[in-house]
Amino acid sequence: MTVYLNTRFIKKSEATISIEDRGFIFGDGVYEVWRIVNGQLFEHARHLARLERGLRELRITPPAEATRDGLLAIAERLIEDNDLCEGEGTLYLEITRGVAPRTHHFPATAPAPTVFAFVNRFVPPEELRARGATATMLPDVRWLRCDIKTIQLLPNVMAKQQAQERGAVEAILIRDGVVTEGSHSNVMAVLDGELRTHEANNLILRGITRDVLLEIAQAEGIAVREEAILESDLGRVSELFVTGTTTDVTPIIRVDDRQIGTGTPGPIAKRLYALLRERMGAGARQAVSATG
Ligand SMILES: Cc1ncc(COP(=O)(O)O)c(C=O)c1O
Repeated sequence: MTVYLNTRFIKKSEATISIEDRGFIFGDGVYEVWRIVNGQLFEHARHLARLERGLRELRITPPAEATRDGLLAIAERLIEDNDLCEGEGTLYLEITRGVAPRTHHFPATAPAPTVFAFVNRFVPPEELRARGATATMLPDVRWLRCDIKTIQLLPNVMAKQQAQERGAVEAILIRDGVVTEGSHSNVMAVLDGELRTHEANNLILRGITRDVLLEIAQAEGIAVREEAILESDLGRVSELFVTGTTTDVTPIIRVDDRQIGTGTPGPIAKRLYALLRERMGAGARQAVSATG
């Protein structure tokens, strides 16, 4: 497998970073994950915009190779070298503040950021989505800047692990009685005929899939409201699903001991999933012209 690290395309086994990398020491960096469909990045511009925003928020000056065109060229080469021109995959990109002697404050002279990227083949778990998945509720103990896609994912890791230990596919996080999001997904519900999801503020990561699905829903004439559902509303929702770059639309049919709706994937989740898949095909064709 070929990966990208600091301007070089090298074998995965040869890729090493310094023990003084601030990503390793402090989790001082951001990341992005794109879906690859037939060799093209789905919604590449939105992911790049979110990455740029995250770098700005953390005051990391993007390195020279991390321009939009530079990153697309890196993606293209990784896709080709790793045989991902057909089928589906993911591209992971991480940018850290770089290597410097350990101090909490930023180094006086900004180091060159570390840039690392790799691709993987991805096969969507269609059977799980058709059957529906289970979730468990956990307190959202994360910091108050969940809008930045930082590599500090320990609360998310702990939540997902706990979900797995409870036999659930995803953790649904609750802060102050409100459903924020999943450990690695956004949460959507159908309540009183409206599609509901947490507003895009500092308490959630504004998912690209979330935004695309809200657009699709609006175009389909589905009423959309960006207002969080309450934990106490979970018993009344007719549908619940989680969304994300690798989650797509995954229906949740049970949360802990509570059945959701009819206990089977609901019609809105199924429709949105079908339309998302359709758009991924269309998005992939659009990206061909954008990347040349
Ligand atoms: C905490 C969290 N929320 C939401 C999402 C969904 O975001 P996206 O649709 O951009 O993948 C992710 C994806 O990794 C995530 O980690």
